[in-house]
Amino acid sequence: MQKPVESKLVAGRFVTFEGGEGSGKSTQIKLLADRLNGARLPAIVTREPGGSAGAEIIRHLVLSGMGKLLGAETESLLFAAARDDHVNQVIKPALEKGTWVLCDRFTDSTRVYQGKLGRVDLKLLRAMERVTIGDLKPDLTLILDVPVAVGLQRAIKRRGAAVADRFEEEGLAFHEKLREAYRQIAADDPQRCVLIDANADPQTVGQRVWTALREHLFASAVASEGSKT
Ligand code: TYD
Repeated sequence: MQKPVESKLVAGRFVTFEGGEGSGKSTQIKLLADRLNGARLPAIVTREPGGSAGAEIIRHLVLSGMGKLLGAETESLLFAAARDDHVNQVIKPALEKGTWVLCDRFTDSTRVYQGKLGRVDLKLLRAMERVTIGDLKPDLTLILDVPVAVGLQRAIKRRGAAVADRFEEEGLAFHEKLREAYRQIAADDPQRCVLIDANADPQTVGQRVWTALREHLFASAVASEGSKT
């Protein structure tokens, strides 16, 4: 039987998932990991804030609302500190081994939540990115887009009796701005980002994610392989 083209050509890519509350990132990231592993492409799933021991401690601090008390700039520094640990302890070592890294949120979250909504100066955010990630850019960023009402409904259902976290408890206008900011990022950087219509059942959205992956990562691998011959 012929090997699927992706398993011959694509190893160790860095894919980030972004989107507002209830956009379905955690479901989709898991579906994609299963699909990649099924194609014999080893993949790990991780998340921000968190993903490494040090970063998980900072996650707890930020999502408890402590970050808000300290102000948006300091909150950004906390996200950056968590990212630095996560990149060095988990993301880079995995990519170096040829493992795919699927990360639930990354620098675009900081740009949207702290930058656009928290009004932290973009120059400060860029400076922190230089320190924490250097030239480690995601190969592909999938931005899951759902109407705010749908996302919040999903988030409330998922949360059940648990208390809303620091960002879930923000009002409707906040979430509308959030959605707009993500749509803008997708429009500004079409090479790296794909806006996925996530207002559908998980299997349908999963198929859209897979199509985006094939078009952006596998197709370019086929092209560069072809140009070597
Ligand atoms: P989480 O429980 O992981 O929620 P979600 O399912 O929405 O990803 O909470 C992470 C929260 O942290 C989320 O509301 C977005 C926020 N966040 C930032 O504000 N800045 C960041 O840099 C990151 C990574 C997350």
